[in-house]
Amino acid sequence: MNRLPSQSTLENAGEGARQVAELFYAMTIGGAVIWLIVIGLAVYAIFQPTRHNAIKTRLLVIGGGAVFPTIVLTGLLSYGLAMLPDLQRPAPEGSQVIEVAGVRWWWRVTYRLPTGDRIETANEIHLPVNEAVEFKLTSEDVIHTFWIPSIGGKVDMIPGRENRLKLFPTKVGHYRGVCAEFCGAAHAQMSFDVIVETREEFDKWLSQLQTPAAGQSHRGHAVFAGRGCGACHSIRGTSSDGVVGPDLTHVGSRRSIGAAILPNEPANLKHWIRNTCEVKPGVEMPSFEAISSDELDALVDYLGSLR
Ligand code: CUA
Repeated sequence: MNRLPSQSTLENAGEGARQVAELFYAMTIGGAVIWLIVIGLAVYAIFQPTRHNAIKTRLLVIGGGAVFPTIVLTGLLSYGLAMLPDLQRPAPEGSQVIEVAGVRWWWRVTYRLPTGDRIETANEIHLPVNEAVEFKLTSEDVIHTFWIPSIGGKVDMIPGRENRLKLFPTKVGHYRGVCAEFCGAAHAQMSFDVIVETREEFDKWLSQLQTPAAGQSHRGHAVFAGRGCGACHSIRGTSSDGVVGPDLTHVGSRRSIGAAILPNEPANLKHWIRNTCEVKPGVEMPSFEAISSDELDALVDYLGSLR
Protein backbone atom coordinates (compact mmCIF):
# COMPACT_ATOMS: atom_id res chain seq x y z
CA MET A 1 0.00 0.00 0.00
CA ASN A 2 1.58 3.28 -1.07
CA ARG A 3 0.09 6.65 -0.19
CA LEU A 4 -3.22 6.98 1.61
CA PRO A 5 -6.26 7.14 -0.65
CA SER A 6 -7.47 10.62 -1.46
CA GLN A 7 -10.46 11.97 0.45
CA SER A 8 -10.79 15.60 -0.60
CA THR A 9 -13.65 17.26 -2.44
CA LEU A 10 -11.33 20.12 -3.39
CA GLU A 11 -8.90 17.72 -5.10
CA ASN A 12 -11.83 16.16 -6.89
CA ALA A 13 -11.90 13.26 -9.32
CA GLY A 14 -15.59 13.19 -10.20
CA GLU A 15 -18.40 15.38 -11.54
CA GLY A 16 -20.44 15.60 -8.31
CA ALA A 17 -17.43 16.53 -6.20
CA ARG A 18 -16.30 19.10 -8.81
CA GLN A 19 -19.69 20.83 -8.58
CA VAL A 20 -19.52 20.89 -4.78
CA ALA A 21 -16.00 22.37 -4.96
CA GLU A 22 -17.17 25.05 -7.44
CA LEU A 23 -20.11 25.93 -5.18
CA PHE A 24 -17.74 26.13 -2.23
CA TYR A 25 -15.43 28.57 -4.01
CA ALA A 26 -18.34 30.65 -5.33
CA MET A 27 -19.96 30.86 -1.88
CA THR A 28 -16.63 31.69 -0.22
CA ILE A 29 -15.81 34.44 -2.72
CA GLY A 30 -19.41 35.76 -2.64
CA GLY A 31 -19.38 35.77 1.17
CA ALA A 32 -15.97 37.48 1.26
CA VAL A 33 -17.15 40.25 -1.10
CA ILE A 34 -20.22 40.94 1.07
CA TRP A 35 -18.10 40.94 4.23
CA LEU A 36 -15.58 43.38 2.74
CA ILE A 37 -18.31 45.77 1.64
CA VAL A 38 -20.20 45.65 4.94
CA ILE A 39 -17.01 46.18 6.96
CA GLY A 40 -15.95 48.91 4.53
CA LEU A 41 -19.26 50.71 5.06
CA ALA A 42 -19.01 50.31 8.84
CA VAL A 43 -15.49 51.82 8.84
CA TYR A 44 -16.69 54.60 6.57
CA ALA A 45 -19.61 55.29 8.95
CA ILE A 46 -17.30 55.46 11.97
CA PHE A 47 -15.05 58.07 10.40
CA GLN A 48 -17.89 60.15 8.97
CA PRO A 49 -17.99 63.80 10.11
CA THR A 50 -20.81 64.16 12.67
CA ARG A 51 -22.87 66.45 10.50
CA HIS A 52 -23.91 64.08 7.79
CA ASN A 53 -25.95 64.23 4.69
CA ALA A 54 -29.31 62.45 5.24
CA ILE A 55 -29.85 61.49 1.59
CA LYS A 56 -26.38 60.00 1.25
CA THR A 57 -26.86 57.97 4.45
CA ARG A 58 -30.20 56.63 3.27
CA LEU A 59 -28.72 55.67 -0.08
CA LEU A 60 -25.91 53.83 1.67
CA VAL A 61 -28.27 51.94 3.97
CA ILE A 62 -30.65 50.95 1.17
CA GLY A 63 -27.92 50.23 -1.36
CA GLY A 64 -25.45 48.44 0.95
CA GLY A 65 -27.97 46.88 3.31
CA ALA A 66 -30.69 45.71 0.93
CA VAL A 67 -30.01 46.07 -2.80
CA PHE A 68 -26.46 44.77 -2.88
CA PRO A 69 -27.00 41.63 -0.68
CA THR A 70 -30.18 40.85 -2.62
CA ILE A 71 -28.28 40.90 -5.93
CA VAL A 72 -25.36 38.82 -4.65
CA LEU A 73 -27.53 36.29 -2.79
CA THR A 74 -29.92 35.90 -5.72
CA GLY A 75 -26.92 35.29 -7.98
CA LEU A 76 -25.50 32.62 -5.64
CA LEU A 77 -28.92 30.98 -5.22
CA SER A 78 -29.53 30.79 -8.98
CA TYR A 79 -26.03 29.40 -9.47
CA GLY A 80 -26.70 26.64 -6.91
CA LEU A 81 -30.19 25.83 -8.24
CA ALA A 82 -28.87 25.59 -11.81
CA MET A 83 -26.87 22.51 -10.74
CA LEU A 84 -29.92 20.61 -9.51
CA PRO A 85 -31.34 19.27 -12.81
CA ASP A 86 -28.02 17.64 -13.66
CA LEU A 87 -27.73 16.05 -10.20
CA GLN A 88 -31.24 14.63 -10.47
CA ARG A 89 -30.91 13.25 -14.01
CA PRO A 90 -30.58 9.44 -13.83
CA ALA A 91 -27.56 7.67 -15.30
CA PRO A 92 -28.02 6.76 -18.99
CA GLU A 93 -29.54 3.41 -19.92
CA GLY A 94 -26.96 0.62 -19.81
CA SER A 95 -24.82 2.25 -17.09
CA GLN A 96 -23.26 0.01 -14.47
CA VAL A 97 -25.67 -0.44 -11.55
CA ILE A 98 -24.18 -1.01 -8.10
CA GLU A 99 -26.31 -1.72 -5.06
CA VAL A 100 -24.77 -0.79 -1.75
CA ALA A 101 -26.27 -1.54 1.64
CA GLY A 102 -24.90 0.00 4.80
CA VAL A 103 -24.56 -2.50 7.64
CA ARG A 104 -23.12 -1.72 11.08
CA TRP A 105 -20.17 -1.20 10.29
CA TRP A 106 -19.37 -2.28 6.77
CA TRP A 107 -20.71 -2.13 3.20
CA ARG A 108 -22.48 -4.88 1.27
CA VAL A 109 -21.73 -4.18 -2.40
CA THR A 110 -23.65 -5.93 -5.19
CA TYR A 111 -22.82 -5.50 -8.88
CA ARG A 112 -25.55 -6.00 -11.47
CA LEU A 113 -24.17 -7.82 -14.48
CA PRO A 114 -25.40 -7.28 -18.06
CA THR A 115 -26.81 -10.82 -17.90
CA GLY A 116 -29.12 -9.74 -15.08
CA ASP A 117 -27.16 -11.74 -12.51
CA ARG A 118 -25.95 -10.08 -9.33
CA ILE A 119 -22.61 -10.63 -7.71
CA GLU A 120 -21.76 -9.68 -4.15
CA THR A 121 -18.57 -8.28 -2.64
CA ALA A 122 -17.79 -5.97 0.27
CA ASN A 123 -16.00 -2.80 1.33
CA GLU A 124 -14.26 -2.16 -2.00
CA ILE A 125 -15.94 -0.55 -5.01
CA HIS A 126 -14.43 -0.52 -8.49
CA LEU A 127 -15.63 2.04 -11.03
CA PRO A 128 -14.81 2.53 -14.72
CA VAL A 129 -13.36 6.00 -15.42
CA ASN A 130 -15.35 8.58 -17.44
CA GLU A 131 -18.58 6.58 -17.28
CA ALA A 132 -21.74 7.24 -15.35
CA VAL A 133 -22.58 4.66 -12.69
CA GLU A 134 -25.85 4.36 -10.83
CA PHE A 135 -25.89 3.52 -7.14
CA LYS A 136 -28.92 2.09 -5.38
CA LEU A 137 -28.46 2.73 -1.72
CA THR A 138 -30.18 1.24 1.29
CA SER A 139 -29.45 0.15 4.84
CA GLU A 140 -29.93 -3.10 6.71
CA ASP A 141 -30.16 -1.55 10.17
CA VAL A 142 -29.85 2.17 11.02
CA ILE A 143 -29.37 5.27 8.85
CA HIS A 144 -25.92 5.47 7.23
CA THR A 145 -24.70 7.94 4.61
CA PHE A 146 -22.75 7.00 1.50
CA TRP A 147 -20.05 9.52 0.59
CA ILE A 148 -16.94 9.41 -1.59
CA PRO A 149 -15.60 12.94 -0.96
CA SER A 150 -13.30 12.97 -4.00
CA ILE A 151 -15.97 11.71 -6.42
CA GLY A 152 -19.39 12.66 -5.11
CA GLY A 153 -22.32 11.94 -2.82
CA LYS A 154 -23.42 12.15 -0.12
CA VAL A 155 -26.74 10.34 0.08
CA ASP A 156 -28.50 8.83 3.08
CA MET A 157 -28.99 5.07 3.28
CA ILE A 158 -32.33 4.46 4.94
CA PRO A 159 -33.73 1.07 6.02
CA GLY A 160 -36.65 -0.05 3.84
CA ARG A 161 -36.00 2.61 1.23
CA GLU A 162 -33.90 2.81 -1.93
CA ASN A 163 -32.09 6.06 -2.66
CA ARG A 164 -30.33 6.64 -5.95
CA LEU A 165 -27.06 8.35 -6.67
CA LYS A 166 -25.36 8.91 -10.02
CA LEU A 167 -21.59 9.27 -10.00
CA PHE A 168 -19.22 10.14 -12.80
CA PRO A 169 -15.55 9.54 -11.86
CA THR A 170 -13.10 11.44 -14.05
CA LYS A 171 -9.67 10.39 -12.78
CA VAL A 172 -8.08 6.96 -12.38
CA GLY A 173 -6.95 6.40 -8.80
CA HIS A 174 -7.57 5.07 -5.30
CA TYR A 175 -10.05 7.01 -3.18
CA ARG A 176 -11.63 6.65 0.23
CA GLY A 177 -15.36 6.47 0.86
CA VAL A 178 -16.88 7.04 4.27
CA CYS A 179 -20.07 6.80 6.27
CA ALA A 180 -21.19 10.36 6.94
CA GLU A 181 -24.01 9.77 9.40
CA PHE A 182 -23.37 8.79 13.02
CA CYS A 183 -24.50 5.17 13.24
CA GLY A 184 -23.06 3.82 16.47
CA ALA A 185 -19.84 2.84 18.21
CA ALA A 186 -17.75 2.11 15.11
CA HIS A 187 -19.16 4.84 12.86
CA ALA A 188 -15.68 6.31 12.40
CA GLN A 189 -14.44 2.88 11.28
CA MET A 190 -17.02 2.42 8.54
CA SER A 191 -15.17 3.30 5.36
CA PHE A 192 -14.44 1.69 2.01
CA ASP A 193 -11.93 1.72 -0.82
CA VAL A 194 -12.85 3.08 -4.21
CA ILE A 195 -10.76 2.09 -7.21
CA VAL A 196 -11.34 4.08 -10.39
CA GLU A 197 -9.76 2.30 -13.34
CA THR A 198 -9.90 2.05 -17.13
CA ARG A 199 -12.81 0.17 -18.74
CA GLU A 200 -10.42 -2.64 -19.62
CA GLU A 201 -9.16 -3.06 -16.05
CA PHE A 202 -12.69 -2.76 -14.71
CA ASP A 203 -13.99 -5.53 -17.00
CA LYS A 204 -11.11 -7.74 -15.96
CA TRP A 205 -11.87 -7.12 -12.28
CA LEU A 206 -15.60 -7.74 -12.78
CA SER A 207 -15.00 -11.04 -14.54
CA GLN A 208 -12.52 -12.06 -11.82
CA LEU A 209 -15.22 -11.22 -9.25
CA GLN A 210 -17.50 -13.79 -10.86
CA THR A 211 -15.10 -16.69 -10.55
CA PRO A 212 -15.71 -18.87 -7.50
CA ALA A 213 -12.88 -19.38 -5.03
CA ALA A 214 -10.41 -22.23 -5.39
CA GLY A 215 -8.15 -23.79 -2.78
CA GLN A 216 -10.52 -25.95 -0.78
CA SER A 217 -7.70 -28.37 -0.16
CA HIS A 218 -5.84 -25.60 1.68
CA ARG A 219 -5.45 -26.32 5.41
CA GLY A 220 -6.75 -22.83 6.18
CA HIS A 221 -10.04 -23.74 4.56
CA ALA A 222 -10.52 -26.49 7.12
CA VAL A 223 -9.79 -23.98 9.90
CA PHE A 224 -12.29 -21.53 8.37
CA ALA A 225 -14.99 -24.21 8.21
CA GLY A 226 -14.08 -25.76 11.57
CA ARG A 227 -14.23 -22.43 13.42
CA GLY A 228 -17.70 -21.77 12.02
CA CYS A 229 -16.66 -18.70 9.99
CA GLY A 230 -18.99 -19.84 7.20
CA ALA A 231 -22.04 -19.24 9.39
CA CYS A 232 -21.53 -15.51 8.81
CA HIS A 233 -19.26 -15.23 5.75
CA SER A 234 -19.64 -16.53 2.20
CA ILE A 235 -16.85 -17.88 0.07
CA ARG A 236 -18.48 -18.72 -3.26
CA GLY A 237 -17.47 -22.14 -4.52
CA THR A 238 -17.29 -23.58 -0.99
CA SER A 239 -19.91 -24.66 1.52
CA SER A 240 -19.51 -21.34 3.40
CA ASP A 241 -22.58 -19.31 2.55
CA GLY A 242 -23.27 -17.03 5.54
CA VAL A 243 -24.83 -13.67 4.79
CA VAL A 244 -24.42 -11.89 8.14
CA GLY A 245 -20.90 -10.62 7.47
CA PRO A 246 -18.92 -9.48 4.42
CA ASP A 247 -18.51 -11.86 1.46
CA LEU A 248 -14.91 -13.10 1.46
CA THR A 249 -14.72 -14.81 -1.95
CA HIS A 250 -11.89 -12.55 -3.15
CA VAL A 251 -10.81 -11.01 0.14
CA GLY A 252 -7.12 -11.59 -0.70
CA SER A 253 -7.33 -9.11 -3.58
CA ARG A 254 -8.79 -6.26 -1.50
CA ARG A 255 -6.73 -3.24 -0.44
CA SER A 256 -7.84 -3.32 3.18
CA ILE A 257 -9.72 -5.24 5.85
CA GLY A 258 -12.30 -4.40 8.53
CA ALA A 259 -14.10 -1.87 6.23
CA ALA A 260 -10.96 -0.01 5.13
CA ILE A 261 -9.43 0.43 8.57
CA LEU A 262 -6.28 -1.69 8.17
CA PRO A 263 -4.15 -2.42 5.08
CA ASN A 264 -4.70 -6.00 3.90
CA GLU A 265 -1.45 -7.52 5.16
CA PRO A 266 -1.00 -10.88 6.92
CA ALA A 267 0.09 -9.28 10.23
CA ASN A 268 -2.98 -7.01 10.26
CA LEU A 269 -5.31 -9.86 9.36
CA LYS A 270 -3.92 -11.93 12.24
CA HIS A 271 -4.33 -8.99 14.60
CA TRP A 272 -7.90 -8.48 13.35
CA ILE A 273 -8.97 -12.11 13.79
CA ARG A 274 -7.54 -12.31 17.33
CA ASN A 275 -8.64 -8.87 18.55
CA THR A 276 -11.67 -7.97 16.42
CA CYS A 277 -13.68 -6.45 19.27
CA GLU A 278 -10.72 -4.35 20.37
CA VAL A 279 -9.89 -3.10 16.88
CA LYS A 280 -13.53 -2.27 16.17
CA PRO A 281 -15.66 -1.87 19.29
CA GLY A 282 -19.24 -3.03 18.92
CA VAL A 283 -18.54 -5.30 15.94
CA GLU A 284 -20.62 -8.49 15.70
CA MET A 285 -17.66 -10.75 14.93
CA PRO A 286 -16.14 -12.22 18.08
CA SER A 287 -12.40 -12.01 18.79
CA PHE A 288 -10.84 -15.41 18.15
CA GLU A 289 -8.32 -15.02 20.99
CA ALA A 290 -7.92 -18.74 21.59
CA ILE A 291 -6.95 -19.71 18.05
CA SER A 292 -3.48 -21.32 17.91
CA SER A 293 -0.70 -19.60 15.98
CA ASP A 294 -0.50 -22.59 13.72
CA GLU A 295 -4.21 -22.43 12.85
CA LEU A 296 -4.06 -18.65 12.48
CA ASP A 297 -1.11 -18.87 10.07
CA ALA A 298 -2.99 -21.37 7.91
CA LEU A 299 -6.21 -19.34 8.00
CA VAL A 300 -4.50 -16.06 7.07
CA ASP A 301 -2.53 -17.78 4.32
CA TYR A 302 -5.76 -19.21 2.92
CA LEU A 303 -7.65 -15.89 3.06
CA GLY A 304 -4.71 -14.18 1.36
CA SER A 305 -4.86 -16.74 -1.44
CA LEU A 306 -8.51 -15.85 -2.21
CA ARG A 307 -7.88 -13.52 -5.15
CU1 CUA B 1 -22.56 4.03 9.15
CU2 CUA B 1 -21.91 5.99 10.27
